[in-house]
Amino acid sequence: MSVESNLKRLFSLEGKVVLMTGAAGGIGTELAKGLAGVGAEVAACDVDVERLKALEEQVVGDGGKVRTYVMDVTSNDSVKTCVDAVIRDSAQIDVLINAAGINKREGFLDVTEETYDRIMDINLKGVFRVTQAVVPHMMKRRKGSIINVGSHNNTGMLAGCSIYGATKSGLQAFTRAGAVEWAEWGIRTNSISPGHILTPLTQVTWDHPTRGDYLRERIALRRPGYPEELLGTVVLLASDASSYITGSNFVLDGGCLCGGTPWEYDTKYRYQG
Ligand SMILES: NC(=O)c1ccc[n+]([C@@H]2O[C@H](COP(=O)([O-])OP(=O)(O)OC[C@H]3O[C@@H](n4cnc5c(N)ncnc54)[C@H](O)[C@@H]3O)[C@@H](O)[C@H]2O)c1
Repeated sequence: MSVESNLKRLFSLEGKVVLMTGAAGGIGTELAKGLAGVGAEVAACDVDVERLKALEEQVVGDGGKVRTYVMDVTSNDSVKTCVDAVIRDSAQIDVLINAAGINKREGFLDVTEETYDRIMDINLKGVFRVTQAVVPHMMKRRKGSIINVGSHNNTGMLAGCSIYGATKSGLQAFTRAGAVEWAEWGIRTNSISPGHILTPLTQVTWDHPTRGDYLRERIALRRPGYPEELLGTVVLLASDASSYITGSNFVLDGGCLCGGTPWEYDTKYRYQG
């Protein structure tokens, strides 16, 4: 068998239907385009109708398969209606990617109950709702892969991200729960934890006179990650190449959590670039 056909057998998503929440976001859009590029039929779900439309145009323009659905992960009715519509349109859901998420940066003591509830409702309860709606369909076919989009905030806390970090830590528990409860149904559950990814929303931080340098100093690769750099791991987890991986978390942070270089040290091997 040729290299191409071996790689295709392992990693191709042809014939697989991927339901993704938060699909119109900075990360979701790149993942949707990339997944469609390796053959997946993407059911792109989001509340942002305009950006869903733009995503659809891009994927279709590139020759990919995508359907868009307006789904609000805070509403049981909206989630059920959308999941039913995806099953009606595509007959199956092979992969679920929970990517919808929000944050509001403020001190723990400043957070109002309203803000707490909103972040929890989207980032954690939203994943609960969508996963509860999708898994029974996967069980019927005795296969499926769930990918929860966490954050390195589930391990390395940044000030002003307490509730966000709590939701992403909670997602780790959901990931482990799914892995142990649904393995016998052929369903695998994993998560990715991106670090500092450059999206339209985080551009301002990277352009900031001090914050951009602060981040670069703490990331081993000395730069932000780009949404398309999450794709390889997502394709791995969505495809049959990861058939023995479940309950795992993949940290995609350019070496941010592994440490840093806060001071000069003696070396003959300083890269001059
Ligand atoms: N950008 C980063 O640096 C970074 C780092 C780690 C983790 N993440 C995670 O990646 C995911 C995507 O983040 P992003 O940077 O693309 O942000 P983004 O704001 O660009 O995308 C989030 C998407 O979620 C959608 N959304 C919000 N509320 C929703 C709701 N109620 N129902 C359905 N969809 C809703 C938004 O419309 C948006 O399209 C999030 O879960 C985020 O926590 C991002």
